[in-house]
This record gives sequence, structure tokens and C-alpha cells, in this order.
Amino acid sequence: MHTAERLQKIPPYLFMTLRNKINAARAAGVDVISLAIGDPVDPSPDPVVEALCAAAKDPANHRYPTDEEWGMLAFREAVARWYARRYHVELDPKKHIVALIGSKEGCHHFAMGVINPGDLVLVTDPGYPGYKPSIWFAGATPHPVPMKAEHHYLPRLSDIPTHIARKATAFFLNYPNNPTGAVAPREFLAELVEFARSFDIAICYDNPYSEIVFGVERLSFLNTPGAADVGVELNSLSKPYNMTGWRIGMACGNPDIVKAIATSKANTDSGVFNAIQYAGIAALDHCDAFIASMLDIYRTRRAKLMDTLRVLGWDYEPPPGTFYLWAPVPKGYTSASFCDYMFDQCAVVIAPGAAYGEHGEGYVRFSLTIEQVRLDEALERMRQRIPCFSF
Ligand SMILES: Cc1ncc(COP(=O)(O)O)c(C=O)c1O
Repeated sequence: MHTAERLQKIPPYLFMTLRNKINAARAAGVDVISLAIGDPVDPSPDPVVEALCAAAKDPANHRYPTDEEWGMLAFREAVARWYARRYHVELDPKKHIVALIGSKEGCHHFAMGVINPGDLVLVTDPGYPGYKPSIWFAGATPHPVPMKAEHHYLPRLSDIPTHIARKATAFFLNYPNNPTGAVAPREFLAELVEFARSFDIAICYDNPYSEIVFGVERLSFLNTPGAADVGVELNSLSKPYNMTGWRIGMACGNPDIVKAIATSKANTDSGVFNAIQYAGIAALDHCDAFIASMLDIYRTRRAKLMDTLRVLGWDYEPPPGTFYLWAPVPKGYTSASFCDYMFDQCAVVIAPGAAYGEHGEGYVRFSLTIEQVRLDEALERMRQRIPCFSF
């Protein structure tokens, strides 16, 4: 059977490849510990599970979701309360918010709703691997914008050639950043809004880690004056509330882009199960303390992993966002060969930086979303089985 040519551009999904490798090793009896994927093993908050159970028992919720393409108004109102409380951002639930099946879905509908075939679309490099396929599906071409350690992993907007900026119609960014953990300060966001305004570029600010920062200000793109004139912020309940499997998030900001996303969704899916939206309301309204407790857990895990890396020769300060640690590879390794080395020596899986783009080469990403005992075991293996490195 023939399949669409557009699929040929899409490389194998990194985590599928890793999952296959892990499954094969486990089948062969190896006790593999994966620090590769950012998928919290800790449970979702109790009030969320309880709200789902109660809502699932109500037959009214067994029908197509209410306000299908936009999400239940009650959910959008909860999103508006959350943004007002957590970020001091005022949103009109009827104009500025659409519910999503996670922010990954939002990236795709942003592409479908905003990008035209033949467009040039800016993406950071390294960057979340989900952006490029959505851009290709829209018939457009991604243009990588480098993020370098010496610039705190922020793209230098002034380095983007003017003819590229003029041609670009959209820009995908994400801070707190996967994979580097970098955060974007207010000054950068103001510069980004100005850049977008000058070149008429629509911003897709993908912010599912907005809550996961250590010792720095929690920020929404929409905190920036003028942000809602030039773009939307995608956010998600996946990471702050350990709800990756529930598939719920939101796009907020520019009303034209929000409407475009809703139109694309209305012609693709039929919205998020009402019971999950009720569970989402419980998370947004009642689980601030839960986020704080998860941050404490990640803080401890970060400190433990950094202790081990320092014992093994790493000497660097990791950026302050997300539940990932982005680390340079020792001298003599590429990102892929160092991942293989870790796998062979310790049966520990980590993600190769090159999978996030050309500028990810030379780095690996550790995820802290695993049980504490398994992380401790991984760190013990590293201390026992690998030498002190030079860089
Ligand atoms: C930058 C980024 N965007 C989007 C997603 C997908 O999040 P969601 O579960 O909300 O679809 C992820 C997940 O790892 C991510 O890292």
C-alpha cells in the first residue's frame, strides 16, 4: 500500500526507538533503568482521580464533549482562574482559551491553523522533536535557530538573517526548555514580542514546563506586554500534575490563533472527554500544593544526580528549569556514543542530545521522572561502573 510522501520526511520517533531498545534488553533479562523520557511515574493528585471517577459515573458526560472544539466553558474558566492566580495574566475564557488534548496536539493544530504550504517556520535547535513533523504536515519548511550554551540556550534573535526573518511566518519556542532546562527571562520575552511584531511572525510558545523552575521566577509568555498580539501559549496538565496519560492542556492568547486552532480541532477530533475536563478543573483549582511537593521531589533528585555527575568529573551549573538535566558528554564521545556507553556499562538509558537537533550534539539529557529508589540505583551503578571523565 502506498502511504503519503510527507511521512518520508519524518525520522523515527526517538522514544519509540529507545522503547524498543529497552524492551529488547529487558526481554533478555537486563535490569534496565530509563532516565530517558519525561513521563512522571509519581501518581496524579487524589482530587483529580476522585473528580474523574465522579464525573465518569454521570451519563451526561458519556456523550460528545460539551463545546467540542473549544473545550467545556467550565474548564476554560478554570484555566483563566489558574492563569490569573499563578501568573497574574487575565484571559477571557470565551475568546482567549481553547482546551487541548495536550500541548503536543496544540503544536499540530497551531501548524494546521496558522501555517501555509511553502512557509518558512523558525524552530529552536536543539528543540522538542514534535515541532518539525507538524511543520512538515502543514507543507512548510522548518528553519533551525541555534541555541548555544554561551548564550544561556536562548536564540540570538539579532543573528537571524533579515531575509529569513522576513520570510518566516511562525516561530516555535519552549522555555523552561526541553531539552536544555534553560529558562527565558522577561527581557528575552520582550525582545521576542518585538521581533515577532516587526516581522509579522506568529509565536507558538510551548510552555508545558512553566511550573517546573528552581529558584527563578515562574513565567508565562503572556506576562509579556503585547504577547497576545503576536502569539499563543500552549500549556498542559501533563507535567505539573503528573497527568501525561490524561491528555489535557490548553492554548491561550491571541484570539485569532485560538480560533484557528479551534477550527482545526473541530475538523479533526471531538474534544476532550468531559470527565477528564472535570478532573482538569480539580487539578487547576485545588492542586497548587501538589506542584510544590513535586518540585521538592525534583529538587532532591536534581541535587543527587548533580552530586554523582560532579564525582564523575562534570563541572558545570545546570540551567534552572524542567525535570531534565542537560549535560555535556565527556571528551572523546558523541551524544549517541555516550548513551551507548552508559547503556553498556550501567544499563541506564539516557537521551542523546543530537536527537533534538544539530546543536544538541555533544550533550545528553537525563530525566528525573523516575522513582527515587530506581534513580538511586542508577546513580550507584554510575559511581561503581564508570570512571572519572575529563571534558
Ligand atoms: C516541549 C514539549 N512540548 C510538548 C510536550 C507534550 O506535552 P503534552 O503531554 O501536553 O502533549 C512535551 C512532552 O515532553 C514537551 O517536552
